[in-house]
Amino acid sequence: MRLKGKVAVITGGASGIGEASAKLFVENGAQVVIADIQDDHGNRLAQSLAPNACFFHCDVSKETDVSALVDYALEKHGRLDIVFSNAGIPGGLFSSMADVTLEDLERVISVNVRGAYLCTKHAARVMIGAKTRGSILLTSSMASVMAMPNGPSYTASKHAVLGIMKSAATDLAPHGIRVNCVSPAGVSTPMLIDAMKKSFPSFDKHCADEMLETTMELKGLTLEADDVAKSALFLCSDDARYISGHNLVIDGAFTSCKAFSTANSMDFLPIKSFFDRLAPASSKKIQSEMNGQLAPQ
Ligand SMILES: NC(=O)c1ccc[n+]([C@@H]2O[C@H](COP(=O)([O-])OP(=O)(O)OC[C@H]3O[C@@H](n4cnc5c(N)ncnc54)[C@H](O)[C@@H]3O)[C@@H](O)[C@H]2O)c1
Repeated sequence: MRLKGKVAVITGGASGIGEASAKLFVENGAQVVIADIQDDHGNRLAQSLAPNACFFHCDVSKETDVSALVDYALEKHGRLDIVFSNAGIPGGLFSSMADVTLEDLERVISVNVRGAYLCTKHAARVMIGAKTRGSILLTSSMASVMAMPNGPSYTASKHAVLGIMKSAATDLAPHGIRVNCVSPAGVSTPMLIDAMKKSFPSFDKHCADEMLETTMELKGLTLEADDVAKSALFLCSDDARYISGHNLVIDGAFTSCKAFSTANSMDFLPIKSFFDRLAPASSKKIQSEMNGQLAPQ
């Protein structure tokens, strides 16, 4: 019960890391407002956690939505202790800096950066107003500390999230408000699977798990949404009461060893070596899709 009596808002709370966090926060005694644009998923999850969770439709790229979200949490529960700004989208996965479109950058920035910025701003407004020593947590990515080759929009957005966190941690410290980031490596959530599917239609959860198992450094397990949720729980709880301005990278040492090759896209893709090493017939189709996609021009 590490969040007993606390009220938390979680954006992107209907799926993946946000969903796992909503469940864990409720298990630990919090009242959770699940915010998302996926109304069906969000409502279903809230019902399964009732009476300790509710759903609020919120597009984090819109200031009116984010402002209404934190006001709703405060009005419904009389306090707001935790805002976990977690909603995010991937950029085009296989577009290098030379050919990435401005549309791709603007789409990713509108959710990943505007969303984090607005959530932090309005969380601060409410927490300062209520004199709450609150906790704001932002989901960044290991792409906040290293480039994701052929993913310039996503990398730029997640570096920016780190800047928002550091700036807010500094500005809000006098109010006793803590601001931190969690920065996971790959997790086989709908975001990752759907992004891969755009280029490789056969890609599924099984492929994602095998890809991560093969390409990550820490062997014998893969990073799950629950692992990120547990880190989020720690950072949002009073156990982390003196931790602010911190980027908790959850990557099994991946960013410690520069595992990405930046030589070119063919060499970079940990995925390519994954497919090279992988024998099962189920992956052959994807491998041929991949070879078609990535054949040198
Ligand atoms: N899955 C990974 O490999 C991975 C790795 C590092 C960081 N992350 C980050 O983790 C966070 C959560 O992603 P996930 O992997 O759980 O993916 P996910 O797709 O399962 O969940 C993301 C949620 O965000 C919601 N969302 C998207 N746009 C939104 C908007 N404009 N307003 C409100 N909600 C919106 C989606 O509807 C979805 O429910 C993201 O910020 C992502 O960048 C993911």
